[in-house]
Amino acid sequence: MESSKKAQATEKSKTRNRIAIFSSHNGSNFQKIVQACEEGNLNAQVVKLYCNNQDAYVLERAKDLSIPSVLIPQSQWNSFVDWDQFVSSDLIESQVQWVVLAGFMKKIGPKTIQAFENKIINTHPSLLPKYGGVGMYGHKVHEAVIANKETQSGITVHYVSENFDEGPVIAQKVIEVYGDDTANSLSERLKAIENDFFMQTLKQVFE
Ligand code: GAR
Repeated sequence: MESSKKAQATEKSKTRNRIAIFSSHNGSNFQKIVQACEEGNLNAQVVKLYCNNQDAYVLERAKDLSIPSVLIPQSQWNSFVDWDQFVSSDLIESQVQWVVLAGFMKKIGPKTIQAFENKIINTHPSLLPKYGGVGMYGHKVHEAVIANKETQSGITVHYVSENFDEGPVIAQKVIEVYGDDTANSLSERLKAIENDFFMQTLKQVFE
């Protein structure tokens, strides 16, 4: 009985998508994805966390969740090309099938993008193409949305291409912006919805 349970578990882990998550700061999306995998709600296993920031809270989350992490601050490599080479080789050696960008604030290199064509997925806190591109990330997006008195913002989950925030869109979710919203209140409301929306979108892609 026990051995057949073990065989079933081994078989299940063979068919699970092997994913790596890239994150730079907080890691609420990282945590949601790891937990969804553990609870069997996402047909995937998180093989590794890649983080470019040694002070990031996401590293603590990874430790608590027993996910191995790799520190990849670009300053530790001689060039962006070398950094990109390391990242793509390490992903390949770790037999990663999908790369998930969950609050990763650096550009992914061309070698990695070629090696994982249409297999790198990002979540962005706006309705792309609005509020995307260089310098538009995290809180800065919400500040710009509020400054421009937008009545709607949202979330875009998309494949990653060589240009920031320009790859094909997989799914979008519209979120109302209220008259008394600040960048903080909008960010908090959006993040709570994004955690679930991103996970559900990944679920559809993986299945
Ligand atoms: C998320 O809102 C994500 O959309 C955004 O960073 C936040 C990370 O939150 N990503 C970008 O702006 C990418 N351009 P988290 O660290 O709590 O998951």
